[in-house]
Amino acid sequence: MSNKSVAIIGAGTMGSAVAVALKNNGYSVVATRRSVEKLDDLKTMGMEVTSDNREAIVKSDAIIFSLKPAETVVQIQQMQGELKGKLVISICASLPLSKLESLLPESTVIRAMTNVASRVGGGFTAYSITEKVSEEGEKQALDILRCFGEVEKIEERYMDALTPISGSGPAYIFTVIEAMVYAGLKVGLPRELALRASYQTILGSAKLVAESGDSLSALKETVITPGGVTIEALYELEDSRITTAFMKAIEAAADKAKKSSLEFLNNLEETETKGTH
Ligand SMILES: NC(=O)c1ccc[n+]([C@@H]2O[C@H](COP(=O)([O-])OP(=O)(O)OC[C@H]3O[C@@H](n4cnc5c(N)ncnc54)[C@H](OP(=O)(O)O)[C@@H]3O)[C@@H](O)[C@H]2O)c1
Repeated sequence: MSNKSVAIIGAGTMGSAVAVALKNNGYSVVATRRSVEKLDDLKTMGMEVTSDNREAIVKSDAIIFSLKPAETVVQIQQMQGELKGKLVISICASLPLSKLESLLPESTVIRAMTNVASRVGGGFTAYSITEKVSEEGEKQALDILRCFGEVEKIEERYMDALTPISGSGPAYIFTVIEAMVYAGLKVGLPRELALRASYQTILGSAKLVAESGDSLSALKETVITPGGVTIEALYELEDSRITTAFMKAIEAAADKAKKSSLEFLNNLEETETKGTH
């Protein structure tokens, strides 16, 4: 199996991000959504677009489900036959591997959590599999997931806690960049200069964390000089309880992710129980 053709079922925000990443890495991509006219950008990039999920699945080696979780279950149920023998990657929050594997006993099933930075190959993608997935199947999935950026295999039980860190994380960083731009404007910088200086500082600092191997506190120390400029800013940030603000925000989002997963599973169970009566 070549896996060079990938169907993206539900090319909304997240689906179109991974579609672009795959296209940029030489994959042939067919993207679906019901309002197919909203996929003109992907079409212009050379992707095939359709509202026919079945057609997209049949012509592709690997399938990525980027629908909302409940709709993913519905679509998989309707296309179990067509998905047989294929690599199926779900990037939906809340949808557990046990459910995916029970619906797709004859497919290679991967659960992944990625983020919108995948569009530019800068995502962080965590994935989980069970022992049912062969080495070859995992390798084919990794070839795809690596197009999105960094990839890490994790135990599935960490997915709900990871969702508010790496899944939602770009939203916090956009907020930080926006705050830095406003601050730049407040102290008289031109808007474009404030924007470039802010995002490039975030990119560079993240690279330093990733590549230096130094602890965060050691890295912080390198910027702080006694009685200098940086400590003035850090003093104000600490006074605003910035660390606690982040911790509380991510804890609230993790609680929400856990609650949503439970609600989704309960609804699913209720629907299945009704269906058997
Ligand atoms: N957004 C993120 O940052 C992010 C991060 C991590 C994970 N996720 C996960 O990614 C999944 C999608 O989230 P999203 O934010 O991308 O949502 P979204 O923008 O609403 O995308 C879902 C897309 O599915 C399409 N769709 C709905 N029913 C369909 C059907 N029967 N056949 C084909 N397409 C259909 C919708 O378009 P039409 O109405 O035109 O059909 C919509 O564009 C979710 O499971 C979420 O947990 C998202």
